Amino acid sequence: MRKLSMIGAAFLGSIFFLCACGEEQPDVPDKSYIGVAYYNQSDTFLNELLDSFKEQLKEMQNEDMETVVMVRDAAGVQRTQDDQVKELINAGCDVLCVNLVDRADPSEIIDLARDHDVPIIFFNREPVAEDLMQWDRLFYVGADAEESGAMQGELAAETIKTNDQADKNRDGKIQYVVLEGEAGHQDAIIRTETVVKTLAESGIELEKLSYQIANWNRAQAENRMEQLIGQYSNQIELVLANNDDMALGAMDAYKKLNYTEAALPLFFGIDGTDAGLKAVVDSELAGTVYNDKEGQAKAMAKLCWALITGEGMEELDFQKERCIYLPYAEVTSENVDEFLARSNTP
Ligand code: GAL
Ligand code: CA
Repeated sequence: MRKLSMIGAAFLGSIFFLCACGEEQPDVPDKSYIGVAYYNQSDTFLNELLDSFKEQLKEMQNEDMETVVMVRDAAGVQRTQDDQVKELINAGCDVLCVNLVDRADPSEIIDLARDHDVPIIFFNREPVAEDLMQWDRLFYVGADAEESGAMQGELAAETIKTNDQADKNRDGKIQYVVLEGEAGHQDAIIRTETVVKTLAESGIELEKLSYQIANWNRAQAENRMEQLIGQYSNQIELVLANNDDMALGAMDAYKKLNYTEAALPLFFGIDGTDAGLKAVVDSELAGTVYNDKEGQAKAMAKLCWALITGEGMEELDFQKERCIYLPYAEVTSENVDEFLARSNTP
């Protein structure tokens, strides 16, 4: 009997204890919701950036705060993205991260967010400055497209000057083609402009054969490159691609046509995606420019955290009031290991 009543007392005691805990709720972390809307889930660079973003947030979590990330893919349609943002706000998101489909068309999203007082971190596709000025809870995280074009130009100039096989037909000029990202995308326009300008300023004689738009996409680039090879056969000495996926797609086209290594042009990309870095290791890409996805992801995660908790804003390195730009870096087979290590450890 005595034993039983002791167990009973212990049981009652623990119920009391549990209730007391329930009232104070000291152990349950607060949950914050972060809504991410991006232009297209087939984009390699952005998928790697978002993986890193989620990892960074997980690392910042502690016993007081947990973050839940909800991701939406607009499949290239701005109207779809507008609806997704509405849905994310209604679901109770505390912060939004938006990679616009159409960088010139953020008004609907900004109005929605402001009406519900949900701050927005735009990333990768930079809205025009006037739009960012519409509200003081709008931010941007990305990189400076001109810098990437200039670096790609420097890498290509250096390689051409030190490689006597680059000018295959020995006419003193480098015959080149450009594979461009989306029409109207600032990274595509500015990279193409700057890479060519930088090459010319470094004293390389250039002859432009053609350019093709391949929307950042490997399969499209392969297809466009096949057309270019059909048109120019062995004349192409240099392929300048606005990103790694398109440089790799161009290479796929040559592989499919069984070109020997000696007959291949030089390929240059931008991004330093996993596949891009591997192609530099294998000397298939002569070089790429690192688009610092870990740095961008970290800046986004810290900014989310600061907006949610109200702490840490002063640690962030803002330019133009509310923008953060991460530097690019040149990657060749000589320093590629450094970048492989970076992309494996966020
Ligand atoms: C660029 C990147 C591309 C593509 C594009 C999407 O910065 O180099 O690979 O991801 O953004 O907006
Ligand atoms: Ca030539």
